[in-house]
Amino acid sequence: MSRILITSALPYINGIKHLGNLAGSMLPADVYARFMRARGHEVLYICATDEHGTPAELAAAKAGQDVKTYCDEQHLIQKTAGEAFGLSYDWFGRSSSEENRHLTQAFCEALDRNGLIEERTDKMVYSIDDGRFLPDRYVEGTCPHCKFEKARGDQCDNCGRLLDPTDLINPYSAVSGSRNLEVRDTKHLYLLQTKVEPQLRAWIESKTQWPQLAKSIAMKHLDEGLIDRGITRDLKWGVPITKDGKPRDGFENKVFYVWFDAPVEYIGATQEYFNAKGNADGWQSWWRLDQGAVDVTYVQFMGKDNVAFHTVSFPATIIGSNEPWKMVDTLKAFNWLNWYGGKFSTSMNRGVFMDQALELLPADYWRWYLISQSPEGSDSSFTWEQFQSAVNKDLADVLGNFANRILKFTESKFGGVVPEGGEAGPQEQKLYADLSALLAEATEAFEAMEMRKAAQAVRRIWVLGNEYLQEAAPWTAFKTDVERAGVIVRHGLNLVRLYAVLAQPLTPFAAQSIADCVGVELPLDWPTTDAQAELSKLPGGAAVKSGEVLFKKIDDDMVADWAARFGGSDAA
Ligand code: MF3
Ligand code: ZN
Repeated sequence: MSRILITSALPYINGIKHLGNLAGSMLPADVYARFMRARGHEVLYICATDEHGTPAELAAAKAGQDVKTYCDEQHLIQKTAGEAFGLSYDWFGRSSSEENRHLTQAFCEALDRNGLIEERTDKMVYSIDDGRFLPDRYVEGTCPHCKFEKARGDQCDNCGRLLDPTDLINPYSAVSGSRNLEVRDTKHLYLLQTKVEPQLRAWIESKTQWPQLAKSIAMKHLDEGLIDRGITRDLKWGVPITKDGKPRDGFENKVFYVWFDAPVEYIGATQEYFNAKGNADGWQSWWRLDQGAVDVTYVQFMGKDNVAFHTVSFPATIIGSNEPWKMVDTLKAFNWLNWYGGKFSTSMNRGVFMDQALELLPADYWRWYLISQSPEGSDSSFTWEQFQSAVNKDLADVLGNFANRILKFTESKFGGVVPEGGEAGPQEQKLYADLSALLAEATEAFEAMEMRKAAQAVRRIWVLGNEYLQEAAPWTAFKTDVERAGVIVRHGLNLVRLYAVLAQPLTPFAAQSIADCVGVELPLDWPTTDAQAELSKLPGGAAVKSGEVLFKKIDDDMVADWAARFGGSDAA
């Protein structure tokens, strides 16, 4: 048994997340956490809301709330939605926590002591009417290259060129529209990443086992060359900057850049968790190498846009601190889940958000679809038609129907009791052999965090059960040889039990319903590859019952209705 620390990228606080966010970090992290728990490991799965930065400030202003109140509310909304999706985090923290504030300040002070922090003066656009400096992307204006009139100060969305806000013609504030702007000097802290580059490179190069996407993005950023990075901003909402525990001179009106404090919250949230349990030192054995964290395996899940921050910026902070922190062992990155080949967009009514999804259908339906279509090798697209097919064919026809059929048959012919007696025959021997191979495949895929493969292997195990039942045909055998029918039914019911076990990471709510049907309690250990043993766990004489229909089908009218409400085929 090992100790496995799992984190998924912290969702931004401003607004509930869409299915693309869920599919690319939190959901696979949860699947992996559940799988590892079922394997008997000690798992700590940590997530949190990423609460600082300009988007949070602006979203709060738009909602007519002060930013603290806004974050309190949104945190609860996201936490509740995550739980309703079955996300089994041990703790869902907040980057605005006191724990994170202390840690973030301490990291900067350590970096400073190690000569890795430098004060530099930047020129930034100041909006006189807004009374604030504007981050690059909140300055808009006409693109000097293509004359697009709504180019952002960091990039033109029309021609794609990278810009500096001062390049823009007729610039205005995206916050208020005011053109009353000027360039002002402002002092910021820079993290001298260039100084830790050799250590960083050695560390990344040692990660030979990382899944390919993460590794290639990390190497690309390293090879493009590191730059020293500004880690403070002219904002009110964020972690204040200190020196020797006191407000840092000249930085009283500044805070850390959100990407500096956000990853630190992985540690902060762990502290929140243990503090809440009244075990103030408990976090250390997960994060401090000098306190037992050497035997922790740490896995991070995230979308591809987050990889550079987790392989370069955050590790530079940790390495630069020269303190014995646990660093990530394996980083699993995802491509985009798109909406019909385009982006999810709230304003354009394209896509489904987490809360809306659960109003339409139970969490498991989405979980199954999102994992089986996981954007691993390349971007993938949500379509209602694919979703309908995944639910109807995989969940309803293959899994649900199998369980229902064998349970109903047991009720009508065997009094709702697992039949005893009789020996396994050639059909069962073949089932054992095929099943053993597939169990090995599924287990390997989950271990490797290859979510699509894992889902496909599980699906093939469902198919295998259907094929077995079809060929062995207990309903025919029953007419001439009740004992033989009993052997088949017993194997069928054991398959149902196995499906409950295998469903635990993917569709945890259904796992519970299936387990209830065969009278077993969850959690159950992940199966070994000894299929014969796995199919003998439900003993003859045990009571079973057919429950509610496990999965309802999605009909075409529902699809048409949802496509109209959330965008879809026609809008594509
Ligand atoms: N909020 C960021 C995003 O959604 C992810 C932050 S991950 C963290 O892209 F670790 F830095 F918090
Ligand atoms: Zn342009």
